[in-house]
Amino acid sequence: MTKRKIGIFVGSLRKESFSKKVANTLAAQFPADFEVETVDLNGLDIYNQDFDDEGQVPASWTKFRETVKHFDAFLFVTPEYNRSVPAVLKNALDVGSRPYGASVWDNKPGAVVSVSPGNLSAFGANHHLRQSLVFLNVPTMQQPEAYIGNVTGLLDETGSITDGETLKFFQSIIDAFVVWIDHNSKK
Ligand SMILES: Cc1cc2nc3c(=O)[nH]c(=O)nc-3n(C[C@H](O)[C@H](O)[C@H](O)COP(=O)(O)O)c2cc1C
Repeated sequence: MTKRKIGIFVGSLRKESFSKKVANTLAAQFPADFEVETVDLNGLDIYNQDFDDEGQVPASWTKFRETVKHFDAFLFVTPEYNRSVPAVLKNALDVGSRPYGASVWDNKPGAVVSVSPGNLSAFGANHHLRQSLVFLNVPTMQQPEAYIGNVTGLLDETGSITDGETLKFFQSIIDAFVVWIDHNSKK
């Protein structure tokens, strides 16, 4: 049986990003019949419609669009910048959404996990991201909601997430996402 492919998109380029640590932990919790790839957003050129209109598309866009096309579902793990989605992740959505009519996101299931060292758990980023995903026609998992607050308290001395209760909650997110993917994938 061919493995279903999950693309993970992290809204932080920071080397020691908490969101990356959460994403890596979640990636390891998918069942064996899933292939999981975290897409590197570093170096993805900023969207400029002229490039599409004039057919002068940066190589980073072509590579990104080709990569995303092959995924069956998307997991977005994001911090919050100024109560919204970090530019790097919004740019990835924009690049993948064009040229008009050729969006690589269209009609594939997704899930959103927001991460913050603060109490509010990046709620603003989580919901601004969902607003874009509605327009992009990415059916986005509603429950369980995944707001990871006070994230530094979840990391052990090596910077890994090993706490049993946290891992159980993360596993419940992935288990629900697998069901969501089954229900929302094109047959
Ligand atoms: C430009 C900027 C804006 C930020 N705005 C918020 C915010 O609105 N809400 C929040 O919880 N944290 C905010 N933070 C703090 C981030 O949550 C923190 O830097 C976090 O470590 C970023 O995620 P990362 O560890 O995955 O890189 C902001 C940080 C930066 C650099």
